[in-house]
Amino acid sequence: MAGKVTADKVTVDKVTAEKVTVAKVTVPEVRSRKQARGAQPLVMLTAYDTPGARIADAAGVDVILVGDSVANTVLGHADTLHVDVGVMVHHVAAVGRASPRALVVGDMPWLSYHVSVQDTITNAAALVRAGAEAVKLEGGRARVAMIEALVATEIPVMGHLGLTPQSVHAMGGYKVQARQAAAAEALVDDAKAIVAAGCFAMVLEGVPDVVAARVTEEVDVPTIGIGAGAGCDGQVLVFHDILNLTFGPPAKFVRRYGDAAALMTAAVQAFRADVKSHQYPSDEESYHLPKETKANLDSLLANPPTRYSSWQVLPTRKVNGNGDHRSAD
Ligand code: KIV
Repeated sequence: MAGKVTADKVTVDKVTAEKVTVAKVTVPEVRSRKQARGAQPLVMLTAYDTPGARIADAAGVDVILVGDSVANTVLGHADTLHVDVGVMVHHVAAVGRASPRALVVGDMPWLSYHVSVQDTITNAAALVRAGAEAVKLEGGRARVAMIEALVATEIPVMGHLGLTPQSVHAMGGYKVQARQAAAAEALVDDAKAIVAAGCFAMVLEGVPDVVAARVTEEVDVPTIGIGAGAGCDGQVLVFHDILNLTFGPPAKFVRRYGDAAALMTAAVQAFRADVKSHQYPSDEESYHLPKETKANLDSLLANPPTRYSSWQVLPTRKVNGNGDHRSAD
């Protein structure tokens, strides 16, 4: 049967210089990664385009999340409520074209899984057909029916609890959640409910570390934290946050691992300076004609054939009264 084969990748071991085959990361592999059972922490990073996915994959992350944070990080919106399925499909497809070894998870945008089971399945299928190998959606017990329906149609689902950015208005802002005992208990119940519904992993965002650790103990699928302390089974950060490409003060949990903004600005400034000082392009960066062709061209330009010298016989093009450049004839 024809189909996209998600092949393992061959890389070169930096120590032994031997070629090693690194297995494609799958949903069952991620599902099994509980640190309590001796697994290594999961590493998830967002990416929204082919270069970002290539960089994340080459660095060896386990999961690439095509997050709806694309709204803030790439598209200039104030929140994630401004992206729809079409936008997410566009970015999932760009990441999918990198054919990463990492598992590709596509975020279901706001309102794409809230209205009906039928809509939810159709929207998730659009992400899968674009290249997602699983989808992520926000919310607890209220989402159980949708999660069950997706799992029944063979679409793996990652949950997302705690600070759920699509609920920004309902939460009254981006606030750390589950700070009270009752709310922490409710979070544990939500976590158990979405696992019972079939989630293979879940993001825990913006919750106190002890609460995230408690959830992690209570569920048998991996928890992946963001602003949720060190007790989770893995960690996720946003590509643009770790590279200083967000142009604002970072959240408390963000660690910047590089300054791509400084690197890119310096490169663009250098290009600008080179153009202004006639240092770019150089002779090596220009295309050249063979000597003989150039000589022919010079002589042709010096003695243009008659048919090219009588410009005045060509029909005159004028700007008409409407200001567009149609032939006046
Ligand atoms: O959209 C996103 O980037 C996310 C992460 C913050 C987990 O959902």
